Amino acid sequence: MVTAARDYISARLLEAGLPVPALGITLGSGLGDAAPELEGAIEISCREVPGWPPCGAPGHAGLLRCGTYGGTGVLVQSGRPHYYEGLDMGEVTLPVRVMAASGIGKVFMANAAGALNPVYEKGYILLVRDHINLMGVNPLRGMRDENGNPRFLDLSSLYDVESGDALEERGKASGWPMESGVLVAVCGPSYETGAELRYMRLVGGDAVSMSLVPEALMAHCLGLAVTAVSVITNVWDLRMPRATSHQEVLDTATGSTALLKEVIYAWLGLSLARDA
Ligand code: HPA
Repeated sequence: MVTAARDYISARLLEAGLPVPALGITLGSGLGDAAPELEGAIEISCREVPGWPPCGAPGHAGLLRCGTYGGTGVLVQSGRPHYYEGLDMGEVTLPVRVMAASGIGKVFMANAAGALNPVYEKGYILLVRDHINLMGVNPLRGMRDENGNPRFLDLSSLYDVESGDALEERGKASGWPMESGVLVAVCGPSYETGAELRYMRLVGGDAVSMSLVPEALMAHCLGLAVTAVSVITNVWDLRMPRATSHQEVLDTATGSTALLKEVIYAWLGLSLARDA
């Protein structure tokens, strides 16, 4: 499955005269417009790629954009498959596994999240420094290491510290509404009850989302450097949660793409500088 998808994308890149990608970007709900401008860019519909899972959630384009930035190959995935769509973790993590198989070494992931931290406001960016996986499943289940043992992966440095520190510094200098924090992952598709939200805050969560964490775990397992952000699309009042909706999430996400794009350009610049 991974090989067929990788081969298809490689052939399209070759045909367009594009290099093997070194950097990958994954954009979630309503965030497709944050995709950076790339030189010589081509678009590949995910539907064309053999074995690519459906990206059926509203606001998810299901599009790959490939091109170069500063001479380096970049692949941008707009729209991701979700566990809540009924897919299995193999399908949810297929895109990141294809990225790894294609030669990508660094990945930037963005999704939408609801704030648990009362300091956050709609449109803020959470720089994910750690996570709490409450999905009840782990995408690495069944994976083995080179000796055939279960993949007991160390997660003490899952989210790349160097790029996180650099982005935090850049954010302060540029006045970005950005905070470092802990992302809680849930299965969805229902939103959280008041008691669940208070529990997540109590155990150290700053925001809650239904994606990103499975892909981050897989990316780390495959040796990719992971930088992740969540766009705060809704803010929970933990004392008396007000109803939210996917429309609110999409509307706020769409309004935040300019800021996210700036963060992505900063990450691209940092990633190129680190490799120079
Ligand atoms: N909960 C879970 N996932 C989300 C939320 C939320 O409040 N907002 C955006 N994705």
